[in-house]
Amino acid sequence: MTTLWHGRFKGGSAEALKALNDSLSFDMRMYKEDIEGSRAHVRMLARVELINEPDKEAILSALDQTEDEISKERFVFEPSDEDIHTAVERRVTEIAGEAGARLHTGRSRNDQVATDLRLWVKREIKEISGLVTDFQETLISQAITSRDTYLPGYTHMQQAQPVMLAHHLLAHGWAFSRDVDRLLEAANRADVSPLGAGALAGSSLPLDPDGVAEDLGFNGRFNNSLDAVSDRDFVADALFALTLLGVHLSRIGEELILWSSTEFGFVELDDAFSTGSSMLPQKKNPDVAELARGKAGRLIGHLTGFLATLKGLPFAYNKDLQEDKEPLFDACDTTRLLLLALNGMVGTMTFNDEKMKEHADNPNAAAIDLAEYLVAKGVPFREAHVIVGGHVAAAMGSEESLVQIVSSDERLGPEAAALLVPGAAVNMRTTPGGAGPEPVKVQLEEFKKQLQTQQERLRE
Ligand code: ARG
Repeated sequence: MTTLWHGRFKGGSAEALKALNDSLSFDMRMYKEDIEGSRAHVRMLARVELINEPDKEAILSALDQTEDEISKERFVFEPSDEDIHTAVERRVTEIAGEAGARLHTGRSRNDQVATDLRLWVKREIKEISGLVTDFQETLISQAITSRDTYLPGYTHMQQAQPVMLAHHLLAHGWAFSRDVDRLLEAANRADVSPLGAGALAGSSLPLDPDGVAEDLGFNGRFNNSLDAVSDRDFVADALFALTLLGVHLSRIGEELILWSSTEFGFVELDDAFSTGSSMLPQKKNPDVAELARGKAGRLIGHLTGFLATLKGLPFAYNKDLQEDKEPLFDACDTTRLLLLALNGMVGTMTFNDEKMKEHADNPNAAAIDLAEYLVAKGVPFREAHVIVGGHVAAAMGSEESLVQIVSSDERLGPEAAALLVPGAAVNMRTTPGGAGPEPVKVQLEEFKKQLQTQQERLRE
């Protein structure tokens, strides 16, 4: 078996070394980016006359054939194919002979792998962002169908104040909107071409890194060759953006787990997005939501694990950096799966409006409106808080309801008691960005507008 470095070595590689060292099993999925990078490199070599036109054509056509073979799963991998870069170059040389042996001129796998991965991240992260915006669309349509439904809003998991269901759904939506911003920023940071940095120091050959960067559609080229081959900040950025997205998905997951329980009964999950129990016939389980909660842990692990890999690495390329791909690929695969499943689950679930309203209409949830009624009459807020708190306490464990107690208090009276009727409290939330129907109507329009802007950015 021939290695890339057989000129300098006497024997072959040990099996145990190969088993540890080879990355083909996972970096194969970058084959398109690897071939794209090689095409641009070869075109550049011809432009600066390091290779002639016939050699360029021979290599380009060998690259086409190689791509075709891999995509049709006809490519025969050899034991010597350590990674995708080695495999492609080996095949190109088999097909194009001496011309193929010129492909790697002025290039190292160090700048090559960084190029491939940056191209891969740019495409993948944009696709994932598109799935996030699809999910936002679903939240919008559920918010619209929820019409005038409201539910208890919670703090400390205790009922606090009623909020419009649309408001609650859009609260998740805004978090996802920030996720899209972060993902696009990660894609933007990946948008720098490292090709031409060579192993670490550039080249004595008249390479043209600017031309290659432009050919590959990058925003620009590296400024420093050492940085170009050792920088994996873009991987860490992407992992962080994906992880925070995963954390947001876990929060919506947790709520749906609670809301679909018998105790809450706020939502009914569609059968297609629920599972049953192997033993208990009555069970309907929210596995999708639980996996959204659970897989956030895996994403956090990838992010922190990779930061640990980077920590303390000296310049420039070290094989440790090969550890960038598996966590990144898995984080992307995981978030894709989650987004598709959660989108389906949220899009098909039905809300139990009556159950939500029934809980939200607990008169205690309007206690703050009584206090604010007194404030409007000139009572200092602290005093008002004590008065109303006393009434709530009195109503508990007494025959008299809060409505009756409030009606018979001359500072409050029937006008204030009317604030406790079902549905009144949520309508009182009128301030900008607040939870009542009026501001929520405005918010929905703002949300749609920002989503549209993001979708336009994704089409760029
Ligand atoms: N498979 C390697 C990686 O993923 C490619 C770069 C190898 N470079 C080297 N000098 N051995 O990082």
